[in-house]
Amino acid sequence: MQRHVNLFEPLELPCGAVLKNRIAKSAMSDSLGDGTGHPTAEQINLYLRWAEGGVAVSIVGEVQGNPGYAEKPGNLVLNEMSDLKSFRKLAENGGSNGALLWVQLGHAGALSYAPTSNPKGPSALDVPGLRCAEMSDDEIHQVPKEFARTARLAQQAGFGGVEVHAAHGFLLSQFLSPLFNKRCDNYGGPIQNRMRLLLASIDAIRAAVGPYFPIAVKLNSSDLLEGGFAEDEALQVVAALDQSSVDLIDISGGTYFPGAKSASDGSGHGPYFIQFAKRARKLTSKPLMLTGGFKTREQADEAVTSGAVDIVGLARALVLEPSLPNYWMKNRLREPAFPRFAEAPEGGVTAWYTMRLTEIGADEEVPEFGDLMLAVRDYDARDGARAEIWRSHFGNDTVALK
Ligand SMILES: Cc1cc2nc3c(=O)[nH]c(=O)nc-3n(C[C@H](O)[C@H](O)[C@H](O)COP(=O)(O)O)c2cc1C
Repeated sequence: MQRHVNLFEPLELPCGAVLKNRIAKSAMSDSLGDGTGHPTAEQINLYLRWAEGGVAVSIVGEVQGNPGYAEKPGNLVLNEMSDLKSFRKLAENGGSNGALLWVQLGHAGALSYAPTSNPKGPSALDVPGLRCAEMSDDEIHQVPKEFARTARLAQQAGFGGVEVHAAHGFLLSQFLSPLFNKRCDNYGGPIQNRMRLLLASIDAIRAAVGPYFPIAVKLNSSDLLEGGFAEDEALQVVAALDQSSVDLIDISGGTYFPGAKSASDGSGHGPYFIQFAKRARKLTSKPLMLTGGFKTREQADEAVTSGAVDIVGLARALVLEPSLPNYWMKNRLREPAFPRFAEAPEGGVTAWYTMRLTEIGADEEVPEFGDLMLAVRDYDARDGARAEIWRSHFGNDTVALK
């Protein structure tokens, strides 16, 4: 009979690292980098707040190895040009109170922030709101090396693990998706080819960090786009990951493709993607994490105690209440009040949550929900200002690897 696991039991990953409980702060691009790819004091405080709030692991979203393909100008950039001092401080604070702080290895590919990039993806695209060139073989071969370099530096700076971002329509997710990937070489066509870059990236990272360092993969169960990456193919990727050296598969879905449905804007009843997780469970013995739509302790308990997944990933709930795990652990039931936004513009909800992260980092959060359109305006203005700093700092420098 299956043993019923409690939300507050520890979990040992295949590499030997132990998570103190089953609650993760899912990757969020917090837009709190200083524009030169380095952490700010607010960002360091934000991860301290989450660590003190009781999470087992926090994942810093969209940490770039190559500044040429960032998702936003508030991303961190970790490569040999980086000053590791502030990264060490971030790792130390985000790793306090027994928490682990992981970095999410990002490369936005076709969705790279246009004001600071020349976006490139698996195939050239020219559709409303999205234009990119096709990557060359050499550029593809660089990608695993860049991820490995960033992972190694993260390890040296004191971070507790990495997550490879293969979800939400960014580079590795574009390679997986038949909608973005029209290549006719070893990286396109059947799913075995489309997952080649992801698997090569994992191998390169593992070789760089050794056997005892956690490597997770965030994977879409589906792009939620017609003709895109869908569940049956995602299950084939899960089966392949089962044979790889990853420690954790973090299941998500949706993309930030213009006009598409992203998980961070979702308002449906959660948890999302749980049926997929149950199918994935039959194909892998790797620990599974599920991110998307958790709003209550009951939902989180049920996902873990039922054996569907090993860890629940929370993003927006931990923006609304950074200390939620502590409240849940002490049975002081405090469910976050989720704001409802009528007629939010595309990306508006994500912008609102991002600005809330800024308030938490500055210890300025107020109980009332601020104005959505004001948040979007502040978010865009800040990105505009950071893009200037980014361009003057990085120029056209994309830090080539030998
Ligand atoms: C402000 C914000 C930024 C996000 N940035 C990232 C990111 O950098 N990487 C990532 O994998 N997911 C990112 N997400 C998506 C979340 O990790 C998560 O998949 C999604 O919000 C659904 O989970 P939730 O219902 O718990 O919010 C972001 C979400 C929000 C709200």
